[in-house]
This record gives sequence, C-alpha cells and structure tokens, in this order.
Amino acid sequence: MKILVATEKAFVAVAVKQIREVVEAAGHELALLENYKNVSELLAAVADADAMIVRSDLVTAEVLDAAKKLRIVVRAGAGYDNLDLAACTAHNVVAMNTPGQNSNAVAELAFEMMLYQARGGFGGKSGSELRGKSIGLHAFGNVGKYMAEIAKGFGMDVYAFDPFVNEKDIEKQGVKVCKSIEDLYSACQYVSLHMPANDKTKKSIGYDLLRKMPSDAVLVNTARKEVIDEDGLLKIFAERPDFKYLSDVEPDCKAQFEEKYKGRFVFTAKKMGAQTEEANINAGVAAAYQIADYFKTGNEKFKVNK
Ligand code: 3PG
Repeated sequence: MKILVATEKAFVAVAVKQIREVVEAAGHELALLENYKNVSELLAAVADADAMIVRSDLVTAEVLDAAKKLRIVVRAGAGYDNLDLAACTAHNVVAMNTPGQNSNAVAELAFEMMLYQARGGFGGKSGSELRGKSIGLHAFGNVGKYMAEIAKGFGMDVYAFDPFVNEKDIEKQGVKVCKSIEDLYSACQYVSLHMPANDKTKKSIGYDLLRKMPSDAVLVNTARKEVIDEDGLLKIFAERPDFKYLSDVEPDCKAQFEEKYKGRFVFTAKKMGAQTEEANINAGVAAAYQIADYFKTGNEKFKVNK
C-alpha cells in the first residue's frame, strides 16, 4: 500500500524517519508531500495513495474525489475540524485522529505564552508571577490535564469546567470543578481554552463570558481561533484596558489589535502548539501505526467518522 504523508507544515526530519520505519516494517511504501503551497499539488499526490497522514491540512470533498484509492486518512493530532467527515464517509474513507499525542506540547506553549506576557515580553520592566494566580481550564481533555499538572507546579489555583468529564476525575487531579461556565470565568484571572472547534463551540466565547473575568484577565487560546466571537473580544478590549489575549495563531481581527492594543496580546504567526520534535514524533508515528494496524487487522479504534 502507498501511504502518503501530506503536510503543508512539515514534521521534523526525525519524525519522518520514524514514520518511514513503521510504514516500511509493515511492508508498505511511504510517499512524501511536504511544505506544499497549492491544493493542486495535494490533488496530484493523493491520486494513487491508499492511506494518508495529514496535520491541519484540509481534507475536502475535492481532495477525496482526487484520491480514488484512498481507504484511510489519519489526522496526526487531536482536532479534526480540517477533515470533511461526511465526505470521508461518502467516499468510504475511514477518518481517524491521534488523541493525546501532541497534548503536552500544546500545554507547554500555553505556559510559554503566559510567562512571556506576564514578564512584559522580556522588555526589561517588572512584570508579574503565576504563583498564587487562578487559572480556569475550559474543557478538561488531554491538553487540560497537562495544563493542570503544569499549573500546579507553578503554584496556581486550578479550576476546570467540562460537562463531558466526570467531576471526580477532575477533582482527582487536584482541580476544583466549576458547575457552570459562568462560574469558571468569574473565578479565574487566567482562562485557557481546550475545546474542539465544532458547530456548538464556534464563536462560543464572547463578550458575556469575558466580561465576568476578574481584573488583569488573560484569555489563553491554544484551541482554535474559530471558538472566539471576535466582535465580543474587541468589545471587551475596548472597555477593559486590563484585558489580555494570547492566541496560538492570529485572529482575523489582528490588524485592530496591532493598531490599538500593543502590549496586550501575543499571537503566533503560524500554529505552534504541536511544533515540537516530540509531538511530531508521537503524533506521526501513532498515525503510521494506526494505518498499518487498520490494513492488517481492520482496527478502527480511533475512527471519528460514522
Ligand atoms: C491539533 O489539533 O492536534 C493541533 O492543533 C496541532 O495542529 P498541527 O498538527 O497543524 O500543528
């Protein structure tokens, strides 16, 4: 079988080497399409692929139409909002993700941005510390758990809200459970977002929630820019000079932040959460094993489409 790694944002070389080893040991062939610039390159590359590993690359109906032999696509990462799941199902393609494999990298980036902002971008002026501050984890999945561990190490007071996770499982980690989303935002100076982007969560974080945050509020977004209602965010920024926003990828309204709110935001130019050697290896190799196992035994454990 031909397994295509199609990554607009390439994995580090050592991860590709290990993916190749897994693929070849299972008797398959690896094809690479890295750092591609146009969808036409992807359409050409998928034409003879039996399986595909992607990152945030868009797997649309057009891509699937071009992938005549494709049986499985694995998103090497957690969020699969880049996969058109209905189109995968319609094309008889199994779609999977690799949950948890890059979560520590994402949690570390959240803290890197928080520390950078707390120390004023290392500009030489006195900043603030994380110890003793409150942090609210909005969603308590794989990234949320790493966040809690790191936050406790910094001596922060950790809260979480996640209606899909058993309260006892949250409390076991030394984290206080908030009964409502409003309670979380009211209690915490820092709020860090860890939910997927879907129809329910898109634009769900807006003015009414953000206005509940205490003074010197910091919203940290390593989830997806789409979960933010940017009109609401701009409204709170205009009202509250103490409010800060740290985001892994620039919001659509970046120009307004640059014009009016210098010093109150940190944005990465390209999504950086999973950009570590370890995360690339963990997610890429897990994807390769899942594909090899699917071809060998039909294992669909991480399937995300119907
Ligand atoms: C994820 O959902 O796993 C992260 O956002 C990582 O995305 P990336 O592979 O495009 O860096």
